[in-house]
Amino acid sequence: MFYEPKDGHGLSKNPFNSLVVPRPIGWISSVDGAGNVNLAPYSFFNAVAYNPPTVMFSAGHGQVEDDSKKDSLRNIVETGEFVHNVTTWDTREAMNESSATTAKDVDEMAMAGLTPIPSTLVKPPRVKEAPIHFECKLLQTVDLPNTSGGNTYTVVFGEVIGIHIEDEFILPSGQIDIAKLHPIGRMGYQDYTEVTGETVFTMDRPGFRE
Ligand SMILES: Cc1cc2nc3c(=O)[nH]c(=O)nc-3n(C[C@H](O)[C@H](O)[C@H](O)COP(=O)(O)O)c2cc1C
Repeated sequence: MFYEPKDGHGLSKNPFNSLVVPRPIGWISSVDGAGNVNLAPYSFFNAVAYNPPTVMFSAGHGQVEDDSKKDSLRNIVETGEFVHNVTTWDTREAMNESSATTAKDVDEMAMAGLTPIPSTLVKPPRVKEAPIHFECKLLQTVDLPNTSGGNTYTVVFGEVIGIHIEDEFILPSGQIDIAKLHPIGRMGYQDYTEVTGETVFTMDRPGFRE
């Protein structure tokens, strides 16, 4: 089949999210100017540059507050900082719980039974239950043009200025123990995938030396 998204897909469900898989899940903690904590997952998320390390996530239309912004976006624009907490198999339920649509002063980290721990360089707390954290400074936001009259998205770019890795996830070789880390990724519909020791494979890149 071929379809132009502006004309519809004709399938029972929109296939788009199933065509870009798996997506890493940005689990974004932020605070507002008064220090209220917010936590939410974003699967329109990725690393986009190596040096300096840079990540992005894309926030759609907020349903609750008058400004129609999601709390993460509003907080990050206000304070210029956020943390990405890496999502793993062990935190999958809490991650999902933290996606609940709530008023801006609701702390989803507490709601999901998670433990806040201080960051080193930024104000938003880290999720203790996550073994890896990126402390980020806002670089810029980009409002995507809304050509279909649908949801309006704002992309948030952040420079990663500090990275925490729990030591037990670093192998004697100096590489990350990805099997032990057991990260999860987002697929289409309500589906997820997991990275395990069995699903990792290695290929040498032609002419490339690390
Ligand atoms: C796995 C997962 C991925 C999500 N990805 C996104 C996303 O990329 N962009 C988005 O706007 N909402 C996404 N959501 C929905 C947000 O998490 C949800 O709207 C949340 O309430 C936003 O919280 P906030 O207003 O506190 O920022 C996702 C939800 C889940 C469970």
